[in-house]
Formats: sequence, C-alpha cells, structure tokens
Amino acid sequence: MSVGKESRDGFASRFGIVCAAAGSAIGLGNIWRFPYVVGESGGGAFLLIYLGFVLLLGIPVMLSEFVIGRNAKRNAFGAFKKIAPRTLWPVVGIIGIVAAFVILAFYSTIAGWTLHYVYLSVVNGFKGADALTVTEIFVSFQTSGAFPVFWQIIFILLTAIIIISGVKKGIEKYSKILMPFLVLLLISLCIRSLTLPGSVGGLTFLFNPDFSKISSTVVLSALGQAFFSLSIGMGALITYASYFPDRTNLPVTSFQVSLADVIIAIMAGVAIFPAMFALGMLPEEGGPGLIFMVLPNVFQQMPGGYVVSIAFFVLLSIAALTSSISIMEVVVAFLTEEFGIKRPGATIITVVAAAFVGIFCTLSWSTFEHVSLGNRNIFDVLDFTASNVLLPLGGLLIVVFVGWYMKQSQVKDEMTNMGILKLMVFMIGYYTRDTRTDEDYTRIRVLKLKMFEVFLFIIRFLAPIAIAIIFLNGIGLIKSL
Ligand code: PFF
Repeated sequence: MSVGKESRDGFASRFGIVCAAAGSAIGLGNIWRFPYVVGESGGGAFLLIYLGFVLLLGIPVMLSEFVIGRNAKRNAFGAFKKIAPRTLWPVVGIIGIVAAFVILAFYSTIAGWTLHYVYLSVVNGFKGADALTVTEIFVSFQTSGAFPVFWQIIFILLTAIIIISGVKKGIEKYSKILMPFLVLLLISLCIRSLTLPGSVGGLTFLFNPDFSKISSTVVLSALGQAFFSLSIGMGALITYASYFPDRTNLPVTSFQVSLADVIIAIMAGVAIFPAMFALGMLPEEGGPGLIFMVLPNVFQQMPGGYVVSIAFFVLLSIAALTSSISIMEVVVAFLTEEFGIKRPGATIITVVAAAFVGIFCTLSWSTFEHVSLGNRNIFDVLDFTASNVLLPLGGLLIVVFVGWYMKQSQVKDEMTNMGILKLMVFMIGYYTRDTRTDEDYTRIRVLKLKMFEVFLFIIRFLAPIAIAIIFLNGIGLIKSL
C-alpha cells in the first residue's frame, strides 16, 4: 500500500478513530511506567498533580495536535511546513522525530520484557515461587544480555509488520478488537490485589496525598508522565489526526481518549500498590522492573492464575504494539511523504535505526551497566530525555503554534468542523434532546463560544507559561538563577 501525497490512507469508522488514538495513548505508559513513577514519587500527591496536568495541559496539547494534523493532512514535519512555509516551525516536527526514535528505543526494551513474560507464563515459570524468587527471576533475565535483546528485536519486527500493512488494515483493525479485553483483565487484577491480606496500605499510598513528598523534580516527572501517557508532544497524534476524516469531533475525541487513558493508569495503580503492600515491598524500590516483580505473585494467588497471567502479558504486549506503531508511524510517515520513500523501505530504515539505539538501551543492566550519567544508566537517560525534556518542549511549541501562529478562524473551523458541530450539545443537551427551545440553543451557542475562549486562553498563556516554569524548575535552572 502506498501512502503518497495524493492518496492518503485514512481511518474508516468513528469508533476506529477513538480506538486508534486511545490505542496509542494506552500502553506501557499506563501499566508499566505509571505505577513505578508513582512509587518513586511518593504516591497520592503525585497522582493529584498528574491528574491536574492531564486536564489543564494534556487535553489542550492533544487537541492542538489534532487541529494541526487534520488541518494539514501531513506527517508531523510536513504539517508545520504546510501551515507555516518558509519558517522555522518544521523544527518542531524534527524534535518529534528525534523523540520518536528515543522512545522507540527504550519502549521496545520494556515491550521485549513483556514478551518474555508471555513465554514465562506459558511455561509456568513462576510455579511455586515466593516473592524473593520472583524478583530473582526478573533480575537474572534483565541482566542476562542476549535474551532481552532477542525479545526486543522480535517486538520491533512485529511493530514493523503492522506498519507495513498500512493504516486501515493494520492499526485500526488491531486496536479495535483487543483493548476491551485488557480492561476486563485489569478489573479482575484490581479485585484480587485489593482482597489480599495487608493490601490497605497500598490504597492509602495511592490516594492519600502527602504533599511533603513533592519537589520540583517530582512535578516535572508528573508532567513527563502525563505527556508520555497521552502520547503528546512529539507529533504522534498530529500524524494520526492527519488520517481523521473531516467529520471527527476533535474536542470530544481528545476528552474521551484522555479519560480512558487516566482510568487505565489508575486501575494499574490499584492492581499494583495493594499487592505490593501485601507482599511487604516498598513502593519506591521497584524501578522499571516493578510490575514484573509484583504481578507474577498476584497471578499465583488467583483462581485460574495460569491463564490470567498468559492473557495479561499477551494483552499488555498488544497494548504496547498499538502504542509503538503510533511512535514508528511518526518516522515512517515523515520518510514516505517528505522523501518519497515507499512504505516498506521507510519501515526498514526506521527498524534498523531504532534497533541499533534500542540494543544499547536494553543492555543498560548488563554489558553497559557501568555507563552512566549522574546516577542514571543509558535506559534512564533516554527515558528522562524523551519524557521530561523533548515531550514538554514539543508540547510547548505545539500550543504556541496553534495559539499564536495559526489563524484563529482556522483553529475554530477545525474545532467546530467548519461551524457545524454542536460541541456542547454533547454535554448539556442530553436531557433536553426533544424539548430544546430557542433559549437552549442560545445557551448552547454561548457555552460553545466560552469553551473556545477557554481553550485559546489555555494554549496562549496558561500552558506555555506553566510548561516552561515546570521544566526550568524541574531541571534546577530557576533555582540556580
Ligand atoms: N502513550 C504511550 C503509552 O502510554 O504507552 C507511549 C507513547 C506513544 C508515547 C506515542 C509517545 C507517543 F508519541
């Protein structure tokens, strides 16, 4: 399939669009990264700040990406080039492409671990193991060198296969069917975790905010987690929105995707922390291996744990795939549209480059365990650079672009689908559907206007200033001034 400039591929159904965008957002970021970052950052207070960031900064950045992507109908770089020709704005697209490489490198490390856990579940590798043994099994795998690299390559290849088969046949089909199953499994994990003896401490840790744990670094990491988890700040959603049809309701889609993303993250938290407390583990100790050291214990104490364990790691691998395809698509769409390279060729180039960086990352705990910057190994450096530096920077530039560079009328047209969309009907119109009066319609219009103005205020002032302060403060620049 060729995705050239004239005949662009696209998403077929409304449900498919939400699922594909949600499929990008929901992934290892929610289930693997969220719990361990919450654990390192002190629990409840971090969660509150994170939720605030999703609402006030995340949703507006996501909506801005949708506006750019659907308006330009181009890849992340090409979109800026089309809307702002002969300016420096396309550099934002380049930042996104660099971020995509970096994320792909460390994302595939963790996705590889997940695939290995499918295998371990199938061969019943944790049978009879106590908590200590489960940890030992993980650490010996993590530090074993060749095995994690093998699984990482398998994962990158799986991503490439879906990417080569194109948007409609690949991305949409896979995301649509499988996500609901993951939600069901998570619910059952939450129930089991909550009913383990000694689990209450986990809930307190997650939901009872202790603000003494908050520092500028923690605030930056909440921002990074919000951006990473929502897939924003690097053009993945610009690229996806470029395939959206004109009738897609962008504000509602951004709201739905963010809501789904947050719910899944919190569910992952409820599945992990009560179990950790029940096992006597400390939340800040897990690091990137947290879920791999906790969950096998939970599965062992569940009826049907053998099957649940296989199903969980299979579905988590698929959630990781629906995210990694959105990351790889940023690079592939860029190469096909800007350089005229065919889709398979572009995918191969991306795979080779990503695997090269990715292998160094996977070997962070073995061959390259002594390579570090400060107290961070290669993996941590890449994760920090992408999540806490490149994504916030990209997000900041994206909102400034939509808020200050694009014409207001153009932005408004995208948000209201040329004025035909009754945005607020979705929220206030439910009860008045058949009995709406002229007065209701006036109210709807007023609300619609207000919502656009609130959005404009956020992307012009609040978001850029907030992101800049959080970032400069988080890397210690404000203090040293
Ligand atoms: N949001 C994905 C997750 O939570 O796993 C990761 C991700 C996808 C980050 C796409 C960034 C991106 F552009």
